[in-house]
Amino acid sequence: MKILVVGSGGREHVLAWKLSQSPSVETVYCAPGNAGTARDVRNLNIASDDIPRLVKFAEENGIDLTVVGPEAPLVAGITDAFRQRGLLVFGPTAKAAQLEGSKVFTKKLLRRANIPTAAFAVFSNYAEAEQYINDCEEQPLVVKADGLAAGKGVFVCANREEARQAVRSILAEKSFGDAGAQVVIEECLVGQEASILAIVDGDTIIPLDVSQDHKRALDGDLGPNTGGMGAYCPAPVVTPEIMDEIVRRVLIPTIHTMKREDNPFSGVLYAGIMLTVGGPKVLEYNVRFGDPEAQPVLMRLKTDLAQLLFAAASGKLHEMETGLEFDPRPAVCVVMASEGYPGGYSKGAVISGIEEADQLPDTKVFHAGTTLVDGQITNSGGRVLGVTAMGDDLAAAKARAYAAVDLINWQGGWCRRDISDKALR
Ligand code: AMP
Ligand code: GLY
Repeated sequence: MKILVVGSGGREHVLAWKLSQSPSVETVYCAPGNAGTARDVRNLNIASDDIPRLVKFAEENGIDLTVVGPEAPLVAGITDAFRQRGLLVFGPTAKAAQLEGSKVFTKKLLRRANIPTAAFAVFSNYAEAEQYINDCEEQPLVVKADGLAAGKGVFVCANREEARQAVRSILAEKSFGDAGAQVVIEECLVGQEASILAIVDGDTIIPLDVSQDHKRALDGDLGPNTGGMGAYCPAPVVTPEIMDEIVRRVLIPTIHTMKREDNPFSGVLYAGIMLTVGGPKVLEYNVRFGDPEAQPVLMRLKTDLAQLLFAAASGKLHEMETGLEFDPRPAVCVVMASEGYPGGYSKGAVISGIEEADQLPDTKVFHAGTTLVDGQITNSGGRVLGVTAMGDDLAAAKARAYAAVDLINWQGGWCRRDISDKALR
């Protein structure tokens, strides 16, 4: 098989790396990729949102399967464009990708299907939204822009004034453009979060082992929100009983409702779940692998990933229902970020020591925001490396991941020091 991976982050690096290990895979291309995918597979100089050129490349080069990493091309219709040309692609259609592309769409679906989620209301008019906030009891509220906002469209507001401010910014000041034509105002949920990723072919659902992300910038879950500063897998906070409930009350009714409403979902369904005292509730859906969750989850996967994604893209996931095999050892991924991230940061610093870190047993440094400049690896993004390791237990995996971090030389590069401590506590 020839496979094309679309995207340039750590998620795409682990996908390309894992796919290239499959005996049935001949070549893996990554468009556009990064300095890490350049080493492990073949990079293409095509942007992840340049759908016509991606289609053309796949047609002219006999690509058997395209795996789409990020949400933006999915919401923009990359799957539809590939399918129109008879090309096989792993990822939802634009219509099904609304599960991530529109929070209003998702909240209404959750309500229709009676799936547990935070109570909510939807507004497109500022005065009405303000009135609603004023009528609410004084309590924390969460305000969300409807559309894609690169992870920046969610405001957890401590009081009414903050909620009004957030709604003003989205609806009146149009800070998110069209993505903010509507807002969702919802109840603030309390608990631990978990990332539930499942492979879906429109019908059959195969969940992957559960992981936990670390969204805040600083140790102890303090500081501003980021794209994710580290993740580990499996996450014991989701017991087999809780997982059972999530499959039964969340995943199955979601996929069933999509199918019944003539909008079948295939690809990765990523449920962001809050484990509340009242049971697991859906915070949001994503329609792709999580980043950095994909790094520890896929490092542990022993089932042939190319066969799995091929089966899902072909609507034949039921043939894989013997289940997935995972390495029993846990994996920890520590994200190293540029100085200043998630605010402004400078680029172009040279990073060395990655090969030494890769030499540690069961360790792999996945690249995210890296670029080769004159043969040297330099930082070109905010989140730059996903240093990932397995160990006999979580403490050993964590120790090994940080031993690898300590082998990396990079002026200004930094990371959290407590990734996976949530599980150890
Ligand atoms: P999202 O962009 O929808 O993934 O939301 C980003 C983050 O905001 C989530 O990972 C949660 O930490 C937080 N969040 C979203 N919705 C809620 C909610 N209803 N209650 C509490 N926290 C929330
Ligand atoms: N790690 C969170 C996300 O991928 O959305």
